[in-house]
Amino acid sequence: MSQYHIKSLEEYFQVYHKSVKDPETFWAEIAEEHFVWRKPWDKVLEWDFTKPEVTWFQGAQLNITENCLDRHLKTRPNKTAILFEPNDPKEEAQHISYKQLHERVCQYANVLKDMGVQKGDRVCIYLPMIPELAISVLACARIGAIHSVVFAGFSSTALATRINDCDCKMVITSDGSFRGNKTIDLKGIVDEALQQCDGVETVLVAQRIHSEVNMKKGRDYWLHILLDLAYKDCVPAIMEAEDPLFILYTSGSTGSPKGMVHSTAGYMVYTAYTFKNVFNYEENDVFWCTADIGWITGHSYIVYGPLCNGATTVMFEGVPTYPDWGRFWQIVEKHKVNQFYTAPTAIRALAKENLDYVKKYDLSSLKVLGTVGEPINEEAWHWYDDHVGKGNCPIVDTWWQTETGGILISPIPFVTPTIPTYATLPLPGIQPCLMDDEGNEIKKTKAQGRLCMKYPWPSMARTIWGNHERYRNTYFSAFRNHYFTGDGALRDSTGNYRITGRVDDVIIVSGHNLGTAPIEDAINEHPAVAESAIVGFPHDVKGTALYGFVILKETGAGRDQNNLRKEINQLITDRIGPIAKLDKIQFTPGLPKTRSGKIMRRILRKIASGDAENLGDISTLLNPEVVKEIKEHTL
Ligand code: WT7
Repeated sequence: MSQYHIKSLEEYFQVYHKSVKDPETFWAEIAEEHFVWRKPWDKVLEWDFTKPEVTWFQGAQLNITENCLDRHLKTRPNKTAILFEPNDPKEEAQHISYKQLHERVCQYANVLKDMGVQKGDRVCIYLPMIPELAISVLACARIGAIHSVVFAGFSSTALATRINDCDCKMVITSDGSFRGNKTIDLKGIVDEALQQCDGVETVLVAQRIHSEVNMKKGRDYWLHILLDLAYKDCVPAIMEAEDPLFILYTSGSTGSPKGMVHSTAGYMVYTAYTFKNVFNYEENDVFWCTADIGWITGHSYIVYGPLCNGATTVMFEGVPTYPDWGRFWQIVEKHKVNQFYTAPTAIRALAKENLDYVKKYDLSSLKVLGTVGEPINEEAWHWYDDHVGKGNCPIVDTWWQTETGGILISPIPFVTPTIPTYATLPLPGIQPCLMDDEGNEIKKTKAQGRLCMKYPWPSMARTIWGNHERYRNTYFSAFRNHYFTGDGALRDSTGNYRITGRVDDVIIVSGHNLGTAPIEDAINEHPAVAESAIVGFPHDVKGTALYGFVILKETGAGRDQNNLRKEINQLITDRIGPIAKLDKIQFTPGLPKTRSGKIMRRILRKIASGDAENLGDISTLLNPEVVKEIKEHTL
């Protein structure tokens, strides 16, 4: 039996049992057998959720890039590590072998060092899905710099906030990016952001679209020129197990984005372990995760998890709709993809189009299908199963979060029986529980409640950058001695989990985690807006879309409402990015509030979802009359 690669349900139960009974031995064995260390650990786990403080493999030393690259040089030097599929299907794909990737990462790492980046420094990476993105991430890890990747769809304001929050001294970007038939001026966005970022000393610019860009003397450098001059050897920095590997921002229900800090050793062990099991990865498989490396899914399951396992990982630059709706399936056929991992929103969008786009291609290489980011509805699940998997590929509905670093609840393909819309069972080492409204754990198996974790796992975020108190408050204060996920879930009589969605004010749109606060802040910047509240409502492609209730100032009263709607969405695009645009905007004279002045989003959510008849008792509101008014003008 191999606990590193679980092959049967019986094995799963044995391994799971061991992982709970003796977590330290369980993780120590996996860590020892499947990774290279410069120095072993003194203590596998130390934890205290009340502080909260968690350390894994304390005392160990390592470099994650030795695990992702160097160790494969002996066993699989010429195997493709990164398979880059460009936006334009006519442009040739690139097969970057482990040997080449190692060389390019080392060279890149030397450039970073030459430009003054040191261990512990923060480097912001704002790049499209081109090989340089994965290479910059790894180059930072090589020298012990902390990478902070910002999704290249974020606006200059959102970028500036993230650069400043963790004091990045360098930004890595490109001249621009290709997205379907459009190009985007990334360098221009960075230039705009940097007007607000005094700490940035250097900008490295990768050449992708060969556009004219403004290069600021003494600050901006072309990457390809520096790379040509750099050595191809770079001794890896020796890192402590708990040294931060990266920061990745995620939205909260209130306040500024949270810079989740992930550690080195625990993150490595857990992402590699879950990659192997959740995707049943075998040596010659081609794995494709369609996420962007700007999100945690890309960090863990395009870069670190696959490379630690010596896998071939596909990086796709483009979009599912270009040149047509068949692009995903054309790529699956072309590269004989074995595992395909995407978001429910993409499946719903594809399922709306003509089936011929799918039928046209040979998808027989596929073995495992995955979904992530939001609940998958039954219809989409069956479409995926029938038309993509042809009934032969288990679907792994993987539940996890930016904060968890890796997948926590998911079927293991060919092992765990799948159930549509269920993430099913916890992976080894994961101890979920459901809490009731009084804050007690529900012991009954069949139950519904708030999803918590009662025991640490290696890849959990260790803190919020610069704000440990906020970390404690957000995740460890709702339920004593537990990590609270923010999600609700139900558990069936055999212990399978079904995630029902967020129980806080975080809204998941097309699998993107959007906090209400930053969007409302953007809306409120409009000179004609007095106040606003946004909620989610069901949408057949996005899963959840955004509905805004906006109170206008007197100055806005006479304005054309459609123009106002456009201006508001433009502001949101400028401040956050197009992903946060509102689908519906209703102007209203008031918002339902409690007597203490808190907006009752629950009521707005019901109205926006077309469920206005079941609002419950609204008599305790400060202004119950406004509810009627809002109901009458629902969009
Ligand atoms: C939130 C985390 C994990 C990478 C992408 C999202 C929702 C995630 C599922 C799933 C139902 C899911 C949860 C979670 N979510 N996966 N399989 N089924 N909901 O990361 O942006 O940090 O968002 O996404 O609500 O809390 P994220």
